[in-house]
Amino acid sequence: FSAFLTDSFGRHHSYLRISLTERCNLRCQYCMPEEGVPLTPKADLLTTEEILTLARLFVKEGVDKIRLTGGEPLIRPDVVDIVAQLRQLEGLRTIGITTNGINLARLLPQLQKAGLSAINISLDTLVPAKFEFIVRRKGFHKVMEGIHKAIELGYSPVKVNCVVMRGLNEDELLDFVALTEGLPLDVRFIEYMPFDGNKWNFKKMVSYKEMLDTLRQQWPELEKLPEEESSTAKAFKIPGFRGQVSFITSMSEHFCGTCNRLRITADGNLKVCLFGNSEVSLRDHLRAGASEEELLRVIGAAVGRKKRQHAELFLMRQDSPPALPSTFRNSLRV
Ligand code: GTP
Ligand code: 5AD
Ligand code: SF4
Repeated sequence: FSAFLTDSFGRHHSYLRISLTERCNLRCQYCMPEEGVPLTPKADLLTTEEILTLARLFVKEGVDKIRLTGGEPLIRPDVVDIVAQLRQLEGLRTIGITTNGINLARLLPQLQKAGLSAINISLDTLVPAKFEFIVRRKGFHKVMEGIHKAIELGYSPVKVNCVVMRGLNEDELLDFVALTEGLPLDVRFIEYMPFDGNKWNFKKMVSYKEMLDTLRQQWPELEKLPEEESSTAKAFKIPGFRGQVSFITSMSEHFCGTCNRLRITADGNLKVCLFGNSEVSLRDHLRAGASEEELLRVIGAAVGRKKRQHAELFLMRQDSPPALPSTFRNSLRV
């Protein structure tokens, strides 16, 4: 495996997340303020050609999975074309997308034809009015339509990301699990994470343990599935159900030790950790005419600075609310 993509703890980075845009057509409370996030001027965003140049380089060095994210990746006008061009890269095995689902039903047939292989859809409630409260926009039925379209077109499992927040949707866990009885879904309950301006507080976070207890009361036969390497999720299944249920325990049991991810922001920064802000602008190096070798050296240096795990997560393990550093910036939007 490429030395440039191996960090000082021996972690190989074979999974690249690329943000296609900072924009979003929703305003989820846990992610963005009502007025949206400050947007980078267009000239400073990566062009499609730059995205493909970087993707090609990472794939050549051993990346075999790329996930397109945002903001909302499906509002980038040439998203289908980007998928089609990524598909040409030899060695790339998986092209995934994480979407809020609003434009999914409409675009999925084209995306599938272009080569999209995996879909994660965010949905935090099954109650339409609550949906509008959480995301501050309409669109519940569109998201449901997107989920069903993904199933209809054969994606399996279709992953549904549900951020669990006390007082908001923790009463819906069992309803979400019930969906997996007949549908090939992987419902993933995510521990609510603190990000810049999202009004996170310790009490609003529902831990993995607590969620698991709730599920076990209803379905004692809940069965743990073997762990997939470098997965963010712990998977469970109720015998006889078509789908499965998972937990993303970013707060209570971090998975930094097996992290294989790198991220490129829409404006071309390389981020080596979701929680970190030590970014290096690949865009600037590209635009200054850097050679492949030079780019790899820059990437290798950033990967080499990757920390073993984030300090935030240390604090969390002592069962106390983590102190929030003021440096979290749009952290989740990649
Ligand atoms: P797969 O590629 O299907 O495994 O999806 P994913 O879980 O990597 O990505 P997705 O975009 O669906 O993100 C779902 C949730 O995973 C996010 O809300 C985050 O909570 C969490 N997540 C993704 N990447 C990281 C990471 O590098 N660190 C941490 N702590 N959490 C992450
Ligand atoms: N905590 C946990 N997950 C979050 N997401 C967005 N903000 C947060 C947060 N504060 C989720 C979205 C999406 C995924 C990329 O991250 O729901 O599914
Ligand atoms: Fe948009 Fe996703 Fe953020 Fe919601 S979580 S506002 S859908 S980027």
